[in-house]
Amino acid sequence: MAIVAPSFLSANFLSLEADCKMVNESEADWFHLDVMDGRFVPNITFGPMIIEFIRKTTTKVCDVHLMIVKPEKYVEDFKKAGADILTVHLEACTHLHRNIEQIKSLGMQAGVALNPHTPVEALKEVLHDIDVVLIMSVNPGFGGQKFIPNTLNKIAALRRMIDEKGLATKIEIDGGVTLQNAPDIIKAGAHVLVAGNTVFRSKDPKDTIAQLKKIV
Ligand code: DX5
Ligand code: ZN
Repeated sequence: MAIVAPSFLSANFLSLEADCKMVNESEADWFHLDVMDGRFVPNITFGPMIIEFIRKTTTKVCDVHLMIVKPEKYVEDFKKAGADILTVHLEACTHLHRNIEQIKSLGMQAGVALNPHTPVEALKEVLHDIDVVLIMSVNPGFGGQKFIPNTLNKIAALRRMIDEKGLATKIEIDGGVTLQNAPDIIKAGAHVLVAGNTVFRSKDPKDTIAQLKKIV
């Protein structure tokens, strides 16, 4: 069964409480929270303050995806805000190993995200240190973009690396996930489906989450 992580980037921020309630009542596993700084990516979203509010509405896993430069400056703030999983971009970290250790030393699970152009092999030396690899299946910055097909090859290659080493690292796919392409994504070896528009723009978001959840 897939782990399903609705992305609040596509939620209605004027009725955030209602959207949190909907996800809480659904079969979703993780709350996916996208932090953007207008520097690493062209868009700006929200920071620890909003996450602290969202955290209070749920006991589900808060999966925070940092699309920011110098993430090390804010790791403690996101811990205080209630992040369970903190994911940094490999492309934003000069000292990735140090950043991973920093996240884990505060008791959070560590994730590393890869842009579409970054090969999964770039993680070879740290794979055993991390809990989650987030493969971007669109260029980060915006919801509602089209899934990049080459992602399926990256998932399969990463899954081989993980299985060969006998690791429990989870593969999370973020961007352009739909009910149509999700079965292929899971078949290729992914564990976690992030879905923004597919969930929040659907007629029955809870049912859409249930359908994503059923994919094996
Ligand atoms: C994009 C974000 C995604 C985004 C996905 O940079 O990381 O989490 O919300 O949105 P959809 O599922 O609509 O492509
Ligand atoms: Zn994301």
